[in-house]
Amino acid sequence: MTKYVIQGGKPLHGSISISGAKNAAVAIIPATLLVNGVCRIENVPQISDVTLILNILQDLGADIRTVNRTTVDIDCSHIHNARVPEGLARQMRASYYLIGALLGRFGSAQVPPPGGCNLGGRPIDQHIKGFVAMGADVDVRGGYIHAQARGGRLTGTTVYMDIVSVGATMNIMLAAALSNGLTVIENAAKEPHIVDLANFLNSMGADIMGAGTDMIKIKGVDRLGGGTYSIIPDQIEAGTYMAAVAAAGGEVLIENIIPKHLECITAKLEEMGVEVEDREDAVLVRRTGTLSRANIKTLPYPGFPTDMQPQIAAALCLAKGTSVLTEGVWDSRYRYVDEFRRMGAQIQVDGKVAVIEGVERLSGARLRACDLRAGAAMVIAALAAAGPSEVSNIHHIERGYEDIVRKLSGVGADIRVVVTPDDGQAEASAG
Ligand code: EPZ
Repeated sequence: MTKYVIQGGKPLHGSISISGAKNAAVAIIPATLLVNGVCRIENVPQISDVTLILNILQDLGADIRTVNRTTVDIDCSHIHNARVPEGLARQMRASYYLIGALLGRFGSAQVPPPGGCNLGGRPIDQHIKGFVAMGADVDVRGGYIHAQARGGRLTGTTVYMDIVSVGATMNIMLAAALSNGLTVIENAAKEPHIVDLANFLNSMGADIMGAGTDMIKIKGVDRLGGGTYSIIPDQIEAGTYMAAVAAAGGEVLIENIIPKHLECITAKLEEMGVEVEDREDAVLVRRTGTLSRANIKTLPYPGFPTDMQPQIAAALCLAKGTSVLTEGVWDSRYRYVDEFRRMGAQIQVDGKVAVIEGVERLSGARLRACDLRAGAAMVIAALAAAGPSEVSNIHHIERGYEDIVRKLSGVGADIRVVVTPDDGQAEASAG
């Protein structure tokens, strides 16, 4: 078993460069299925979810060539298979984008139901509602979602989303890019990765307008051709390191980011007494004094992101006063609380609300990551705590954070990767 061993209590100083956005990459890579020609994708994060989605495309027959550490060439022109093999797709959430992309390309898709973090119920009814409105028959049988466009090609229509869904908005964009006529998505999600997917598709020849607003118009085109595209920086990775500075103290320049995407996070950190200075493509984050309490409700963009809720909670555990967190997106995103309590945090959870009574210090403990952002939050809590901590189940963290140990070590954190002797291996690497 591989785990992180962290000696807490050291303020962070230096700079961290942010990688490409996970939630953009896991949509843009399947989007290459719609393209006739080579897509050169730059700023691809090296995380296990990206490896998985690339492997799925390769299994389908894509020609994939690594150009350098963050650039990959993907050519899906020769794929003739709309059935995704079962094994890998069930390990990740974003495999649902294969339904929209394959349906758009072939008029048919057979994809196993997606996996991903356990955050309570994760239905995909809004995705299916969109496909059906565009003329697809969708049913689940034999462990697969089967989608088939009547007449072989989807037809544009207006789809009103009953709830704001990132995944459904992107999936309908994928399905509509090569469809017949105009598709309008109303009540669309507005996250930066939605704009990034639209920009990618437009740069390959699609006709999409309004991404980033709550109404997106997609005029179907007959063909997309190859090109080069660079993925946006990861808003949540940046926010995670900002929260780490808030919790552990110090001063860190977070580089290669788009400050505008971080405004919702910056505003809360400032309210908590953290200094944040915007630069052109960086933010300088400094925390020297005591943290103040804050109330936070997670909401779709541009609200405070649910994917930052556990990390900000780690900092609020050490803030002066009582903070109230309200989870506005997922049913169950407080599974990390029991682990925090073992460090001395005082948190009460009632449904979607958590009340955090700030304490003067957390103490190191053995922690088990239960999902991606919860795992990142445990790393943050451990960096701020007195004494040593261990974080296990780190495969959750490595799904979404490139080189987290190297990046944190680079700003003075005492964090090492350790492989426990029970599986017969010595320490793997130290950072
Ligand atoms: C994406 O999940 C992200 N995942 C999640 O990031 C993120 O938490 C979430 O968006 C919200 O920002 C990827 O991009 C791969 P949704 P997604 O559809 O698309 C309900 C992380 O840590 N809903 O916006 O699955 C749903 O239950 C991960 O990086 C329906 O009811 O989220 C939830 O309550 C975790 N029916 C809400 O909408 C549907 O058909 C928002 O979900 C779809 C969603």
